[in-house]
Amino acid sequence: MLLYKLAVLVSGFGSNLQAVIDAVSNGTIPNAKVELVISNREGVFGLERAEKHGIANMVINKNDPAKLSGILEDKKIDGIVLAGYLSMIPPDVIEKYKSKIINIHPALLPLFGGKGFYGIRVHQAVLTAGVNYTGATAHLVDHKYDTGDVLIRSIVPVLPGDTAEVLQARVLEVEHRTLVLAVKALVENKIEELAANPLTQINEEDKEGVLEFAQGLLALGKALTDTDNGEL
Ligand code: GRF
Repeated sequence: MLLYKLAVLVSGFGSNLQAVIDAVSNGTIPNAKVELVISNREGVFGLERAEKHGIANMVINKNDPAKLSGILEDKKIDGIVLAGYLSMIPPDVIEKYKSKIINIHPALLPLFGGKGFYGIRVHQAVLTAGVNYTGATAHLVDHKYDTGDVLIRSIVPVLPGDTAEVLQARVLEVEHRTLVLAVKALVENKIEELAANPLTQINEEDKEGVLEFAQGLLALGKALTDTDNGEL
């Protein structure tokens, strides 16, 4: 059976990359291989993780789009995962890999997403907004930051006394599970289905405040759709 070849793009620590590597090796993501790890920054821990697992890895400057397209072609990459990658993907790569590029974002898109919303800033904005829930979103990548079709949203409570760092750590854990589930769908060719019916996940013990959360979204002027009965 031909393995589904993944390229994972990172810019930092690489804990989301590690979650994908582990899920591929323990079979949670079946029939796949992390063929290539690319970073747009030198010396990041994500590259060390790749080296440790014997995965081809390299640094490609964001100002060298041709090099990125070329290596993806050479390695016959089937799908691309952005795991904490902080640069835009070149338009030709987005076109060539339509519905085959997944990103993980540490908030419940479309809230707290877009240009400038990355890393700790996201969690600071969540705390400043005073919302009771945040989370992680896996989505397809298009020509703008964080606007591609949502695949999975995983809800995480904001707890009294949370600092941005504490919240970031709680969300990061959930990011790992969310990204693995989305990459599994990619490998199993179920992405269109998921994009048509995005998944929302919440831990059993966190369900209590969901209604409150929904009311918070409405108060922020967000439209909510009850999948059974249409617009709320
Ligand atoms: C994650 O929170 C990701 O959502 C964001 O950057 C962080 C990267 O974490 N874009 P890591 O490098 O995967 O540990």
